[in-house]
Amino acid sequence: MSSSDEITVIKVLMVCLGNICRSPTAHGVFQQRINSHNLQNRIMVDSAGTGDWHIGQSPDHRAASAAKARGYPLDDLRARQVQAADFHEYDYILAMDHENLSELKASCPEDCQHKLALFLSYSDREEEVVPDPYYSGDDGFELVLDMVEEASDNLLNELVRRHLN
Ligand code: 4NP
Repeated sequence: MSSSDEITVIKVLMVCLGNICRSPTAHGVFQQRINSHNLQNRIMVDSAGTGDWHIGQSPDHRAASAAKARGYPLDDLRARQVQAADFHEYDYILAMDHENLSELKASCPEDCQHKLALFLSYSDREEEVVPDPYYSGDDGFELVLDMVEEASDNLLNELVRRHLN
């Protein structure tokens, strides 16, 4: 997307596999960043999964408690699956890992492919992906939060630089 694109409200969709661990964490953290910069009228965030197993469910209790401990409430979020309309609705569709990105690329219309990216492309870390913590211990959820917090800070700065200055 070029800096000349006029977007009134920038819409960001965080995507993982189940929409119960990584993407709701990214949703909650980025929402907090939006709120703390008083940009609720200019940037909105949602999250979704490429899979359908957990539709309607609350975030995984381990993800929710790790996020809550850092001040990010996830309790009101409910899992949903990515749908065709999302590709037109959202301006930035950010995948947590390469599998998520491949799934998105396979179903995204050609004229919206430019909206797809890895979330960690906004991070300074060497790692390209947010590892799936579903089968990990508590450390996995802390690592997700570390990565998501850093990428959220950079993403917010980049959106402001590109669209809101
Ligand atoms: P997420 O984690 O993609 O970060 O929400 C997972 C949640 C559920 C499953 C896999 C990953 N699962 O296999 O049900």
